[in-house]
Amino acid sequence: MNAVPPLQERALAALSAAMPADMFLTDDEAMDRYSRDWSGDHYGRPLAVARPRSTEELSRLMKCCHDQQIHVVPQGGLTGLVGAAVPTYPGGEVVVSLERMNKVRSVNPIDFAMVVEAGCILEDAKRHAEAADCILPITFGAQGTCRIGGNVATNAGGFNVLRYGMTRELVLGLEVVLADGRIWNGLRTLRKDNRGYDLKQLFIGSEGTLGIVTAVALKIFPKPEQVETALVGLQSVEAAMQLYARARRQCSDLLTAFELILRGGIEIAINARKDLHDPLGSPYPVYVLIEASAAGRVDLRALLEGFLADASDLVLDGVIAGSKAQADRLWLLREMMVEAQGRGGRYLRTDVSVSISSLAAFVSDALDALAKMHPDAIAVTYGHVGDGNIHLNIVPPVDMPANRFDELFHATEEVIFDVIDKHGGSISAEHGIGRVKQAAFLKRADPLTLELSRRIKDAFDPKHLLSEGRILASVEGEAKGSE
Ligand code: LAC
Ligand code: ZN
Repeated sequence: MNAVPPLQERALAALSAAMPADMFLTDDEAMDRYSRDWSGDHYGRPLAVARPRSTEELSRLMKCCHDQQIHVVPQGGLTGLVGAAVPTYPGGEVVVSLERMNKVRSVNPIDFAMVVEAGCILEDAKRHAEAADCILPITFGAQGTCRIGGNVATNAGGFNVLRYGMTRELVLGLEVVLADGRIWNGLRTLRKDNRGYDLKQLFIGSEGTLGIVTAVALKIFPKPEQVETALVGLQSVEAAMQLYARARRQCSDLLTAFELILRGGIEIAINARKDLHDPLGSPYPVYVLIEASAAGRVDLRALLEGFLADASDLVLDGVIAGSKAQADRLWLLREMMVEAQGRGGRYLRTDVSVSISSLAAFVSDALDALAKMHPDAIAVTYGHVGDGNIHLNIVPPVDMPANRFDELFHATEEVIFDVIDKHGGSISAEHGIGRVKQAAFLKRADPLTLELSRRIKDAFDPKHLLSEGRILASVEGEAKGSE
């Protein structure tokens, strides 16, 4: 710990004296995996990594950090994409990893609710729900690594938002340790509870800036007996959105996913793995991966076949998976596309949203503007278009030297955000703000929103010790005018 200034060294010594010895990791090698997130774009060496085993232990730790004025950043599975959980605060931060608090406390198929500790890996929680013939519908590529507390702190989205909503809509109750160590107990599974302000909503999506989520009560749903998956090829994003409008009416609210992928994304996926082939007879400009699911007496297959047959004016070709294995292969295209984008090195990730009715126009305007202003940049376009959410990413040309990437990413992001502003959209649909989107967020946020947000931060964390500098600029940075 030689890089740590003497004052902080004393504070950290006080911390380790007050807590059980095996709570902390302090050597560089052990702390390495807590120093960066999945994007690999950020690095921050923790002052120490604390791994509490219970809410009470975390409460004592936080009280001590509060007394000693030590900055803290909570971590789940580190699969976030905006740098919120990496300990990059300039003066240094103690990382609080929730990984040891990973129990499923209860699953109740009559209440359709489960209670899970924050460090539980999403996929483990999903398995527990399935064992009770239910589903926990939060679903995305990182589910084998991300942890429930992080899903709540970031209000995670994913593939099934269309049917079940963002994480916020699935949270019934929370238990949270505050910056000063007090435990806020709102861990209830009540479906209706209109007693005053709904404080849990403030913690959901707060990216660790208002408190540390330690346990979550979640809604679960009857497990669908039937799931049908189709991939269709279309001429344009406009055609895909017309298909979506019809699907909403003709598939009886049974749609669980409606994922758009432009041809470039399919090519990235099939080039990345030898065993992945072009999914349809010939290439199409635009693809949609459709999933519908149902419990009860519905002939879902006939419904989907009938819907696609009626849409022959829009659908140029398509395949309906004949088995779970085939459905998994279709989803693998989607997963590989995301994974393979990062293989060539860094790329610009965006996560924007517009109203569903503006989505086709947004994509066309943004791609036109990029082609005109940065013709060598490669745009990869896909997204959860049933939610109006697009990921329009930029991969640098192969011959571009790495020292020009930042300039390219900055310029292309400006172009995309400019078009988003024109369409009245959001620069962050599901990934949050963290540090990566902070400048773009602050530039656009109206003064009253910022004033109220700062007052909320001050109320929950008056000493500004918790995930300082994420979402809002840090108070020190503001004083220096440097953030
Ligand atoms: C996705 C994540 C990265 O849609 O948001 O794949
Ligand atoms: Zn996404």
